[in-house]
Amino acid sequence: MSERVVRVGMLGCGTVGAAVARMVQERAEDIERRAGVRLRITRVAVRDVQRERDVPIPAEAFTTDGEAVVDDPEVDVVVELLGGVEPARSLLLRALANGKPVVTANKELLAQAGDELARAAGDRGLDLAFEAAVAGGIPLIRPLRVSLVGERIRRVMGIVNGTTNFILTQMSDHGWSFEQALAEAQRLGYAEADPTADVEGADAAAKCAILASLAFDSRVRAADVYREGITGITAQDIADAARLGYAVKLLAIAELQDDAISARVHPAMVPTTHPLASVRDAFNAVFVEGETVGQLMFYGRGAGGGPTATAVVGDLAQVARRLVDGGRAAVAFRDLGRRIRPMDDTLGQYYLNLHVEDRPGVLAEIAERFGRSGVSIERVWQEGHGDEATLVFITHRALEGALQKTLTDLRGLDCVRAVSSLLRVEGEEG
Ligand SMILES: NC(=O)c1ccc[n+]([C@@H]2O[C@H](COP(=O)([O-])OP(=O)(O)OC[C@H]3O[C@@H](n4cnc5c(N)ncnc54)[C@H](OP(=O)(O)O)[C@@H]3O)[C@@H](O)[C@H]2O)c1
Repeated sequence: MSERVVRVGMLGCGTVGAAVARMVQERAEDIERRAGVRLRITRVAVRDVQRERDVPIPAEAFTTDGEAVVDDPEVDVVVELLGGVEPARSLLLRALANGKPVVTANKELLAQAGDELARAAGDRGLDLAFEAAVAGGIPLIRPLRVSLVGERIRRVMGIVNGTTNFILTQMSDHGWSFEQALAEAQRLGYAEADPTADVEGADAAAKCAILASLAFDSRVRAADVYREGITGITAQDIADAARLGYAVKLLAIAELQDDAISARVHPAMVPTTHPLASVRDAFNAVFVEGETVGQLMFYGRGAGGGPTATAVVGDLAQVARRLVDGGRAAVAFRDLGRRIRPMDDTLGQYYLNLHVEDRPGVLAEIAERFGRSGVSIERVWQEGHGDEATLVFITHRALEGALQKTLTDLRGLDCVRAVSSLLRVEGEEG
């Protein structure tokens, strides 16, 4: 390696990879001035070498063989932009075994095998950098890993999936159903043809697992994250929430409750006065609450080739700088072994809308069922009359298990015709 040129092997040259290649070329002088290193992409693995790509990389640098990239002695750093768990995992382990630091934007891989990769990197004192894996262009991982090292983080809560936020914004603006808003998101390119990972909350759960692992120094995997998507949200839910002064958002929440971690992804009503309520369209925002610093909010573009490339290039420059300067990298994930709280054992606040019989004594009968499970009611009111009568409840914070028990009891009552909606309420104190 010449003193200031660091050679990059890239796995993948799609939306993000191509944007990284262009940025490394077009901003080479800025990067060199600021980071003191020149980045040069020397090898690139793709599936189809014949494909036309608008990137400033010579054709002979391309290969379909990922191993050839990570084994190449002319590659100093490997950046993985393939997506999916395999072959990304094996290739990054091999790169680390070869003594090369790695950068990745792959949340799915980190949420599943982050500990294995962190161990492999840590054993050799190599960097494993992943700023782009959560909230794309928003610098969030480095603040959590570095800037807030002296802070006790209590909660990380945010909107980390642009597709679902776009859909919920459309539903709210136009009174549309979920299906109508999804079709519009697909037409405009905000949702994929198969939107399952986004709308069912799996993408947000992977990001939540990474944020929880970093914030609380304990290994949280995607499978540990309780997950509900937005497919069950109706136009009525959104209209009801708006009338009461709330916006409906898909939130990823990681918090410490009595030294155990609660990690969950679900739709929630957020007061319109809370900063997260005004995060519209495909934007992301993450709220970090620390014991000393108080509340911080990180806001911006959570996806897209260009914004995501800024995070990848930032990581590359930092990793390259360490290669030039020498020194061991910090361990990516630590594991204090904190317990993961089951969802039933998690505290939350709830909004319930019950379609009920309109006769004297119904409210008392229902309130008694709440009391029996230990769920206390903050507010209750009736809307409509006769066949249209509904009772609306907002509870105090209660255990999810107790709330679910109340729901089962309520469904068994003759006076309750239907539980029309149940939504969690978050951010009241924000
Ligand atoms: N797109 C975003 O806005 C965004 C934001 C944040 C994070 N990320 C993450 O960034 C990563 C890349 O996303 P992307 O949107 O750039 O994906 P993409 O456009 O689908 O690009 C994937 C690239 O990987 C190559 N590839 C896939 N499997 C391969 C294999 N087995 N061997 C060799 N090459 C292979 C593809 O080759 P071909 O070009 O020949 O098909 C393509 O160049 C993912 O982990 C994603 O979650 C993306």
